[in-house]
Amino acid sequence: MFSLFRSSKATPDLSFISVDMHSHLLPGLDDGLQEMEQTIQYVKELQQLGYKKLICTPHILTGVYNNSPQTILPKLELVRAAFAENNLDMQIEAAAEYMVDGDLESYINDGLPLLTFGKNFILIEMSYAAASSNIEQIIFQLRLKGLQPILAHPERYIYYMSNQTQYERFVDLGCLLQINILSLLGYYGEASKDIAETLLRKNMVSFIGTDMHHDNHLGALKKLASKKSFYKLFESIELKNKELLS
Ligand SMILES: [Fe+2]
Repeated sequence: MFSLFRSSKATPDLSFISVDMHSHLLPGLDDGLQEMEQTIQYVKELQQLGYKKLICTPHILTGVYNNSPQTILPKLELVRAAFAENNLDMQIEAAAEYMVDGDLESYINDGLPLLTFGKNFILIEMSYAAASSNIEQIIFQLRLKGLQPILAHPERYIYYMSNQTQYERFVDLGCLLQINILSLLGYYGEASKDIAETLLRKNMVSFIGTDMHHDNHLGALKKLASKKSFYKLFESIELKNKELLS
């Protein structure tokens, strides 16, 4: 008689995403994970969920998270060594999540090396309080340098809620969009959920990322991954995450 009831549960399987390109799993660099043991545990859990490769993107925000290639790349090597010690077979890379501000503009103008992944992709973000005044200029300058900007979690910039044509403007300028997977659960509120679903429906989403920082995110991800309705959202969507497999 139980077969009369359609279950809303699914077996967690995020292998259709395969590559996570936005996370804060490198320990002790920002507001993400702090200890190597945590990193190992999270990576095991993400592997069980179906991820094959992880690209870690610590924040770079001067005065708050003073990261650079000099802090991030040696930490990546430590994590790789810990993987080997733990017999953990998972591809891991590092780039960064650059705040769009005057400092990023200086890095670009001064020709400093920027952390990218895949085909010259660079992940950028803005404050949740207000848009960066130089966002369009930064997109333009990055593209001029042959880099492909990806705007992190556009659905969380709810100051665009009443003017969603701004997202089309970013895409027209050549910026790709990456939504956070947990937005689809409503983790960041209904407004972000609505915008994320709208962007997906309009086929404007190139990447989906975990933006994994802590236990609440991991718990929510497992919950989302066991919902049948989540997988339905992607039935006619072609994400670029898998293109990052190598
Ligand atoms: Fe992030």
